[in-house]
Amino acid sequence: CVCVHACVCAFVRVLYRPSPCSSLPFQGGCTFDDGPGACDYHQDLYDDFEWVHVSAQEPHYLPPEMPQGSYMVVDSSNHDPGEKARLQLPTMKENDTHCIDFSYLLYSQKGLNPGTLNILVRVNKGPLANPIWNVTGFTGRDWLRAELAVKFLVCAFLKYNTGSAGVVSLPCSPHFLRLGDVEVNAGQNATFQCIATGRDAVHNKLWLQRRNGEDIPVAQTKNINHRRFAASFRLQEVTKTDQDLYRCVTQSERGSGVSNFAQLIVREPPRPIAPPQLLGVGPTYLLIQLNANSIIGDGPIILKEVEYRMTSGSWTETHAVNAPTYKLWHLDPDTEYEIRVLLTRPGEGGTGLPGPPLITRTKCAEPMRTPKTLKIAEIQARRIAVDWESLGYNITRCHTFNVTICYHYFRGHNESRADCLDMDPKAPQHVVNHLPPYTNVSLKMILTNPEGRKESEETIIQTDEDGTLMFIISGGGGGRGLRGPRMTSFLH
Ligand SMILES: *[C@@H]1O[C@H](CO)[C@@H](O)[C@H](O)[C@H]1NC(C)=O
Ligand SMILES: *[C@@H]1O[C@H](CO)[C@@H](O)[C@H](O)[C@H]1NC(C)=O
Ligand SMILES: *[C@@H]1O[C@H](CO)[C@@H](O)[C@H](O)[C@H]1NC(C)=O
Ligand SMILES: *[C@@H]1O[C@H](CO)[C@@H](O)[C@H](O)[C@H]1NC(C)=O
Ligand SMILES: *[C@@H]1O[C@H](CO)[C@@H](O)[C@H](O)[C@H]1NC(C)=O
Ligand SMILES: *[C@@H]1O[C@H](CO)[C@@H](O)[C@H](O)[C@H]1NC(C)=O
Ligand SMILES: *[C@@H]1O[C@H](CO)[C@@H](O)[C@H](O)[C@H]1NC(C)=O
Repeated sequence: CVCVHACVCAFVRVLYRPSPCSSLPFQGGCTFDDGPGACDYHQDLYDDFEWVHVSAQEPHYLPPEMPQGSYMVVDSSNHDPGEKARLQLPTMKENDTHCIDFSYLLYSQKGLNPGTLNILVRVNKGPLANPIWNVTGFTGRDWLRAELAVKFLVCAFLKYNTGSAGVVSLPCSPHFLRLGDVEVNAGQNATFQCIATGRDAVHNKLWLQRRNGEDIPVAQTKNINHRRFAASFRLQEVTKTDQDLYRCVTQSERGSGVSNFAQLIVREPPRPIAPPQLLGVGPTYLLIQLNANSIIGDGPIILKEVEYRMTSGSWTETHAVNAPTYKLWHLDPDTEYEIRVLLTRPGEGGTGLPGPPLITRTKCAEPMRTPKTLKIAEIQARRIAVDWESLGYNITRCHTFNVTICYHYFRGHNESRADCLDMDPKAPQHVVNHLPPYTNVSLKMILTNPEGRKESEETIIQTDEDGTLMFIISGGGGGRGLRGPRMTSFLH
């Protein structure tokens, strides 16, 4: 090792304990007395420069003030900023938390910057993510000590080479209980709760680390007891792009703790691909098939609803459905409806957007009845006008209908006439012309729509006399109207 101007020297003596805060002796570990190979440490192949082994048994060329013993050292002088030397520790394959206890110092001469020592934790050959612990700049000539509490859950078991085992009396760094996966529906807030154990742990730096390197700050911490606390991390209104692996990291002066990676699973609330299908139609009902077997999004579906409204209306009604078909009742005849299906999966915000609509019309219903008495708008000598205002939709129960007026009358001994006239159903009045004056005419109205016909009762109307004059004579004490003599007009 040529360490002339600046050195980063890390003595890495790693020891393992199955349970972090037990006072059990370390179960494994390694010193560098027999070289890095014996400990299964190796130089990363994809870095820029090398770590070098220093052995207590062999002569080396370090400045005399540097520590004695066996350790790994890296000379960071003559390297550009950003260049890296990476030493890989053996893979940890046991379940539960590992405590890694190590000593380090960053040394430099003449006030030079020795660089940064970073600790990274990679899970299952995944990305390196951000450091869980780092130290920058000159740290002095004495060894400093740090511990890492790393939480893993893997299935293979590997026996480590044992080196000299020791007992550490210090409690381990804050460490995490197993972090569980979080599943939410898209659009909801997701919360990871990290539970950490360790003395004074609540004062440590804490964050949630996403696999891609993004750090999420702590939202809330809460003491559970004097040795345990919970930290919450909130991801606001998550989408599919937030789905990833996350882990808790804590850092104190003494060391770092990192949890296992847990998954954020973002589910997409389900939505039918196709509109509902029409199975049957009547004047006041629609029978539909929900047609919700093909969906966009995630299941399982725990609720199906039918949402419908009049195309021209503003209100909407929603009904839960637990059969493949559904009958919408009490609808208006000859009216267009828009029907959609809503699907819900478990969890808050599990209802998806409505599927595409079925737009369909109910059939006409049989006319209710015609008005009991025809509303006469105008009586003249030779014509009678019937008001049709009284024929509202609630009577015709169809938007297409025909109106016929039939009339008959007798005049003198042998003159009679009977006829039926088709009326313009949309005209403001239905007029019967060419009637004789001063004659009792019997009228009735017939309402026809595609579903049926209804007739009104007959109404007898007496046509006016031709050219009637009125003489008004005022008597004493009170006004009294008298009808004057009849005059026959010759205008017609
Ligand atoms: C570690 O590095 C980050 C930037 O990547 C920095 O914010 C943080 O203070 C460093 N921690 C230590 C202990 O140096
Ligand atoms: C590790 O944990 C998993 C899941 O809990 C378990 O199936 C496995 O047997 C454990 N392995 C060891 C070595 O304890
Ligand atoms: C998510 O959290 C924010 C702020 O705490 C809140 O305003 C919002 O309503 C929450 N969203 C949901 C879907 O709960
Ligand atoms: C029909 O509707 C009109 C108003 O649109 C209302 O005045 C009338 O009472 C209704 N008739 C029936 C039979 O419901
Ligand atoms: C009606 O009767 C009168 C006589 O009373 C007769 O002159 C006339 O031709 C009759 N009209 C018809 C249409 O039969
Ligand atoms: C019409 O009928 C009424 C009642 O039946 C009767 O009083 C009236 O005289 C009749 N009018 C004519 C012009 O025959
Ligand atoms: C209404 O009248 C038209 C023409 O006279 C006819 O074609 C149609 O079938 C009638 N509609 C009904 C409902 O009776």
